[in-house]
Amino acid sequence: MTFPPLPLISDHNDKSSQLKNRLRKNYQHRRKWAERTQTNCFRIYDRDIKEYPFAIDFYNQRFCLHYFASLQDSDDRFEKEVEDVLLDLFHAKKQDIYWRKRMKRSKTEQYEKKDISSDFFVVQEYGVKFWVNLRDYLDTGLFLDHRETRRLVASKAKGKRLLNLFAYTGSFSVQAALRGSIFTKTVDMSNTYCTWAEKNFFLNRINSKNNIIERADCLKFLSEETQQYDLIVIDPPTLSRSKKMEQMFDVQKDYIQLIEKALPLLTSGGTLFFSTNSRKFQMDASLLPLCLLREISSITLPIDFQKNKAHRCWTMML
Ligand SMILES: C[S@@+](CC[C@H](N)C(=O)[O-])C[C@H]1O[C@@H](n2cnc3c(N)ncnc32)[C@H](O)[C@@H]1O
Repeated sequence: MTFPPLPLISDHNDKSSQLKNRLRKNYQHRRKWAERTQTNCFRIYDRDIKEYPFAIDFYNQRFCLHYFASLQDSDDRFEKEVEDVLLDLFHAKKQDIYWRKRMKRSKTEQYEKKDISSDFFVVQEYGVKFWVNLRDYLDTGLFLDHRETRRLVASKAKGKRLLNLFAYTGSFSVQAALRGSIFTKTVDMSNTYCTWAEKNFFLNRINSKNNIIERADCLKFLSEETQQYDLIVIDPPTLSRSKKMEQMFDVQKDYIQLIEKALPLLTSGGTLFFSTNSRKFQMDASLLPLCLLREISSITLPIDFQKNKAHRCWTMML
């Protein structure tokens, strides 16, 4: 599969549009890096200008716009202006611009389906391919803020065994498998995302014999798992509730339990990566006295997500 080159855009500064100039600057800043690293999905705007409180992600010639204010605000007031800027700068087509309203999610709707257009297409990140869908689900299939975390984990994966918990569409496992891991296990509660992960493995020609996908509640899975792993990734949602789970999951309340259940599965010399998008999350190192804990967010946050600190990430070793 070949991808179209990243669009070249004009250098011409437009005095009439602050937004257009900022987008041009950001995109041009990232374009060369993206071309060099075979990456065609990255953030090109992140609430840089107060009056324009949204983010724009570029996904292989398509644009995904996340709006951050609450729904009470008139969230379509920018639509025309932004669309005009994208059409003009990138010669985008209107149907390639996807608006996603990032309202406060209720506890139950987090992972529900939004639409049924089945609008899947492929992007690449560091030369690895992933299916994404900007229309039908609350998230796109690939969390772009974890690009560097995936690369970091994959860089340690050669000859190693990886356990990927709350794996979503399996992107950590796919990167690790392509960088030489000998075994991966990808665990997620959702049938939809397990199937999506399977498609990502297939897309990258990864064999399914040594790369297992298991649909399970991670807490229950950890109570039953007996295998050992050199690398464990735990990137749970902030909150999650489902009929498939015995109880509601709250990262702040449950992280110690989760990590304590995972540490016995870690080989000596192995590394556990723990990450969260919860802005209020507080890690209490005193509750994990047996492991060497290090915050690595400054390494894992990519340049396009640094300003708004999309996640925090730690490593733990025994
Ligand atoms: C924040 S996403 C994980 C992102 C993923 N690690 C990545 O970087 O692509 C949350 C995922 O956790 C899954 N999930 C939520 N609660 C779960 C549970 N108790 N057990 C297993 N999976 C769960 C959801 O189905 C969803 O795929």
